[in-house]
Amino acid sequence: MMSQEQNDLITRIGPKEPCGRLMRMYWQPAALVDELQGPRAVRPVKLLGEDLVLFHDESGRYGLIDRHCAHRGADLAFGRLENAGLRCAFHGWLFDVTGQCLETPAEPMGSKLCQGIKQRCYPVVEKSGILWAYLGEGSPPAFPEIDCFVAPDSHVFAFKGHWACNWLQALEVGVDPSHASYLHRFFEDEDTSNAYGRQFRGASASSDMPMTKIMREHDRPIINVEHTEYGMRLVTLREIDDERTHVRVTNQLFPHAFVIPMNQEMTITQYHVPIDDENCYWYSIFTSFTTPVDKKTMREQRLATYELPDYKSRRNKANDYGFDPHEQATATYTGMGMDINVHDQWAVESMGPIQDRTKEHLGQADKAIVQYRRMLREEIEKVAAGEKPILCLDDAHARSIQGPGTMDGIGPTQGWEMYWMEVDVKRRRGAPWAAPVPSEIADKVRHLSAAE
Ligand code: FES
Ligand SMILES: [Fe+2]
Repeated sequence: MMSQEQNDLITRIGPKEPCGRLMRMYWQPAALVDELQGPRAVRPVKLLGEDLVLFHDESGRYGLIDRHCAHRGADLAFGRLENAGLRCAFHGWLFDVTGQCLETPAEPMGSKLCQGIKQRCYPVVEKSGILWAYLGEGSPPAFPEIDCFVAPDSHVFAFKGHWACNWLQALEVGVDPSHASYLHRFFEDEDTSNAYGRQFRGASASSDMPMTKIMREHDRPIINVEHTEYGMRLVTLREIDDERTHVRVTNQLFPHAFVIPMNQEMTITQYHVPIDDENCYWYSIFTSFTTPVDKKTMREQRLATYELPDYKSRRNKANDYGFDPHEQATATYTGMGMDINVHDQWAVESMGPIQDRTKEHLGQADKAIVQYRRMLREEIEKVAAGEKPILCLDDAHARSIQGPGTMDGIGPTQGWEMYWMEVDVKRRRGAPWAAPVPSEIADKVRHLSAAE
């Protein structure tokens, strides 16, 4: 349990809040590249509580500027994309991607008013299907050289979805390995050959056992948490018998992402980005270690649940997430359908806009959540003291953050420690792109590295 002050400290992300200052030291997903396609590349974006407008000018540059016009505050999301900038529809003031005002057409000829007018603007870069923005001061950090940023465009696919809750409770689902045995329980296993693009529907490595069966039948996992340079690694063990143990390796990527296996082929890197204190987007980057990602199928699967333009779920609080008591009695734990994303959405939204952590009761199974919150508080304090938090990287350091290793497989009950690394390394060695073996893993499985 924590005090209200402690809960506010780790959840609120406005510009003056300590956690808001921490968040502003990292690149944030602002939109999918897909959203800026089409004839009128202008999108309103709310990020870290700030109202902004994102646009793509005629020469291909991205701009992210204040949504309200510097003249008298009209909404630039309705602006006209022309003359190398975005023109306000009220009196025609024109702004370029740096926020500089270029024209104030209603002013007398020869007026120099525009020269001194600048909208607030933030840098934007395109990476792995996402447009990233930096809302902090000074120069932005480097991106870590993790798999989702190293893989070629053909092997990554990005998508997003809206959740009506604070970012932290959304993230905490990603460091809560035991919930998968309950929230995502299916009473029947499907044919695993039909698993493409679907979380938990494949078979675990080194077996033909569906992940759903393991999660359902082994519901008291042992959770190991290690602190790393990028955040935390979770190794979750479900002992099947004396010989065999199910091992699942997932990662917390500081501050607000996790990296988990989707199946033997792909990983998911998922960011939980604050829109404001009470709403967030998840942005997932799916990274394939085998064939190119079938983006059309992946997109269609997700568009069945998420509606454009805001990527809001068709199943939501207003329709009880499609809750069906008969289904709950016979087919799924939640009665909310087969899409596990909807299960997670219900879990985190039903806690309320900002979970009241003054009333919770944590157990052993919540140990990763406890450790994550401690790390978050420590890093918030560092920023308040003028220091750099973890994963706020310079170029040289960015190269040392690789991987991270993920896997889901059935290995030996004695010796799972090496087993999971071998599975991860073999997948990297077999990838058609140069998937780096993180040095900490390479050091421990030298017999595989020596084969190079
Ligand atoms: S309010 Fe935008 S040009 Fe006047
Ligand atoms: Fe989940």
